[in-house]
Amino acid sequence: MAGGSGTRLSPITKIVNKHFLPVGKYPMIYWSLLKLKEANIENVLLIINQDDRPLYDKLIGDGRELELKVTYKIQDEPLGIAHGVSLAQSFVGNSPFIVLLGDNLFQDSLRKAVNDFDVDPKMGHVFLKKVTNPMAYGIAEIDSKTNKIKAIEEKPANPKSDLCVTGIYLYEASVFRYMKQLVPSNRGELEITDLNNQLIKEGQLGYQMLNGWWIDAGTHESLYYANQLINGDRKEPNHE
Ligand code: TTP
Repeated sequence: MAGGSGTRLSPITKIVNKHFLPVGKYPMIYWSLLKLKEANIENVLLIINQDDRPLYDKLIGDGRELELKVTYKIQDEPLGIAHGVSLAQSFVGNSPFIVLLGDNLFQDSLRKAVNDFDVDPKMGHVFLKKVTNPMAYGIAEIDSKTNKIKAIEEKPANPKSDLCVTGIYLYEASVFRYMKQLVPSNRGELEITDLNNQLIKEGQLGYQMLNGWWIDAGTHESLYYANQLINGDRKEPNHE
């Protein structure tokens, strides 16, 4: 996912999409592509904004240089992550698939999780990370008896845990039928959290913890930390 409006990184995002901003020696979006490659995933669909299409032609094209097969789909308006994902239906067909939010950077390899999901899929699988400021994220409440996710709450005023749902999601193609039932949230977006909560109701959302660092590089401060993390100048993000 590389659309969105990037308002939190304004003013530069008035003229350049945040996924082109440098993190270490690469534009931000490269780090997602490299994570997919590391997980042995070859076929990639980038959900992008219309204005960025010619820039992607110059930067990544068909993905050959990265040894990936990259195609593109335009999201006409930033109507939410679940809206963007729904545009991938024909690309995905009947296969399981992984969604990465292009502004999320992280250390763990996804290879094992991808392989395990292929073998024994639930409809969805998310990756959790402990954060120090849970009020800023989608937070998972874990049932202490069953160890399953009970619910996910978006930016809770009274967080029930400090476990943030990161922007890495594994899904079966069957989730598209739930996506069609989503309605826009108060902020006018189709929310991935609503989809995940539906999967929880169906007993179909697995999870695991991320071991290494993880950061959403969508703010000025976190973009700075992301650069430090990638360059090895910082060991852990500051999620304040
Ligand atoms: P967000 O950071 O939630 O949204 P944004 O990128 O518009 O930024 P801001 O909140 O500062 O305005 O998006 C998370 C990721 O999902 C990011 O990589 C962009 C992507 N995205 C889309 O591709 N399409 C969308 O409609 C939205 C909302 C996000």
